[in-house]
Parts: sequence; C-alpha cells; structure tokens
Amino acid sequence: MIIMSVESTCDETAVALVRDGREVLTDQIFSQADLHAIYGGVVPEIASRGHVEVIYQLADRAIAAAGIEKKDIDAVAVSFAPGLIGAVLVGVNFAKSVASALGVPLIPVHHVRAHMAANYLAYPQLEPPFVCLAISGGNTIIVDVRSYTDMRIVGATRDDAAGECFDKTARVLGLGYPGGKPVDDLSKGGDDRKYVLPISHIDGHPYDMSFSGLKTAVINLVHNAQQKGEELDKPSLCASFAKAVSDSLVPRTIAAAGELGYTKLVVAGGVAANSRIRADFEAAAKKAGLELFVPPLRLCGDNGAMVGAQAYYEYLSGNTADSDLNAYASMDLDSVR
Ligand code: KG4
Repeated sequence: MIIMSVESTCDETAVALVRDGREVLTDQIFSQADLHAIYGGVVPEIASRGHVEVIYQLADRAIAAAGIEKKDIDAVAVSFAPGLIGAVLVGVNFAKSVASALGVPLIPVHHVRAHMAANYLAYPQLEPPFVCLAISGGNTIIVDVRSYTDMRIVGATRDDAAGECFDKTARVLGLGYPGGKPVDDLSKGGDDRKYVLPISHIDGHPYDMSFSGLKTAVINLVHNAQQKGEELDKPSLCASFAKAVSDSLVPRTIAAAGELGYTKLVVAGGVAANSRIRADFEAAAKKAGLELFVPPLRLCGDNGAMVGAQAYYEYLSGNTADSDLNAYASMDLDSVR
C-alpha cells in the first residue's frame, strides 16, 4: 500500500510516499527556518503562506522522485493536529483535495504519533508495546504505547515543552532560531557543572515535568550578568542547561518503562537530536537493561515520511476521515477519534 503523506503543522512543508508504513519511497521537505530566523521564532501567518506556496510542487516532485504515477497512490494521509492552526489547515485542505481527486481514503494522523512512528522507519524490527518519550518544540510527553494506535499519556510537561526551552535559551544567548542545535553545538566545549540550574518535581505525579522554572533561571542568569557587566561562560551555560533538561527527562522515562514492565524504550521528536540527551539515554538504558530506539538525526525533526509510517497503522485499525475532516491546534494523542 502506497500512502502519500503530508506534513505542515509548523515551519516544515513535507510530502512523502511511504510503502506499507516502513519503506520510504521519497520524502520531499521544504524548511522555512530561514524565513522565520530574523523574527527569532515562527511567525504563524508567514508559515501558512509558505506552505500554500510550495505544497503542490512538493507533491509533484515526490511523485517524480519515487518514479510512480498518481494512480499508484492508495491513500492520502495528513498531520491534522496539533500545530499552528493556519499551517495545519493548509495540509489538511491539500490532502482532502488529493484524496478526493484520486478517489482514495483520507487518513488523519496525530503529529506526535507520527514523530513516534519515525522509529518504525529506522528500525524495521520495532513493534509495540513500548514506552516512548516524545520531545519536540511543542510537546513533551511520556507515552505508554500499547499498540500502534492504542496509547496512553503517563506523564507530560505542565508548562513549556523541552524544545521551547532550548529555543528560549538560544534566544537569550543570541544564538538564533531554531535554537536547539546551536545550544547543543556550543555545549560540547562546556563544563556541565559550572551553573546549577533547577530541575522541577511535581508532588504525586512522578512522570510529569516542568521547564518554565529552568527557562526563567537561564533568563535571569543572563540578565543579571548583563546588568553587572559580567562575561558568561556560554559553552558551560549551554552544557549545564542541556544536563538539566536531560536530568528531567531521562530518569523519568526509564522509571516509567520499569513501572509499565516494558523492555523497549523509544525516543522521538526534534529534541531527540540532542547529543547530551541521546548519550544519557544510551547509558541509562544500558544500565536498566532496556532496548533503546532513537531515530537518526534526519528523522528527528518534522518530515513527511513519519506521517506515512503512522498512517499505515491508523488505516489498518480503521481510522479514516471523511471530507469534513478539520484541523486542530491542540489534541492529546490518546484522544484521537
Ligand atoms: O519535532 P520538531 O522538528 O518540531 C515540532 O514538532 O515541534 O522539533 C523542533 C524542536 C525545536 O525546538 C528545536 O530547537 C529542537 O527541536 N531541536 C533540538 C535539537 N535539534 C532540534 N533541541 C535540542 N538539541 C538539538 N540538537
């Protein structure tokens, strides 16, 4: 089964063709990051307009690159939630039009489920059940993945997402947007014990997290140093910050896997590209005797192939949409209809 899959929830437009949920025939991605960089973050209207401009071309290019014809497409899938509403609407409307024109099923895919499914592309042997930490610009959740489509959130951030926190830290340090990679790169030359930063705990909710205190601590540190005319050791601040984020995420996810009795641990989303978090997970999973799955860097950020991977399993479980499918700015991944 060949699925054309569409992604437009934030600042990447992507159209992929994926066979049977596991084989990527092509993944055409256009990143708008440069368009938003001068504003220090994603400007929603610019994002929506950017998707409108390129989405048809990406689909044509995908069909050409895969060497297939339109009649070979068996279904069309789209990330329909969560995301910037104007941006998601572009993808949803496009996918509906293509599905209608080709007379094939339309498959709605939750964006965070798609991030998790990126691992099915990288690891052909990976099957649920497992515990998954999904860490991106807008989401930070620990998920009990019982089957390809039956999932339950066991922990989540109470405020900022981990990626948002990386982006704010980069912004206050003047490292540009998106901020995760520059903070990661700079942290490699730093001392992670130089700055002591807070790690939040929420009483009675061992798997919930909070990053707003950490974000505020970094902002205050930078502003205080500026006011006093002191020079900050930026590499060490980035290293201390990455350690604090990792210390918030890794032990909780390992503990959740233990409590759920799983032997497999999956990490997904843009922040899964972080070198400190990857290294800490490797060490912790080994110590706990867990099998670790982390996507290669190219599958961590937003892409179309991950949507096609999850779409296959949504289709198999009977999850298709009608022409009245809408887009949603927010939606829990365990409340997908
Ligand atoms: O998954 P993603 O591409 O988009 C969303 O669905 O949100 O995640 C984007 C986030 C951004 O906050 C970006 O700064 C962060 O992932 N990111 C990283 C790294 N690469 C990207 N964060 C930490 N370290 C990285 N190497």
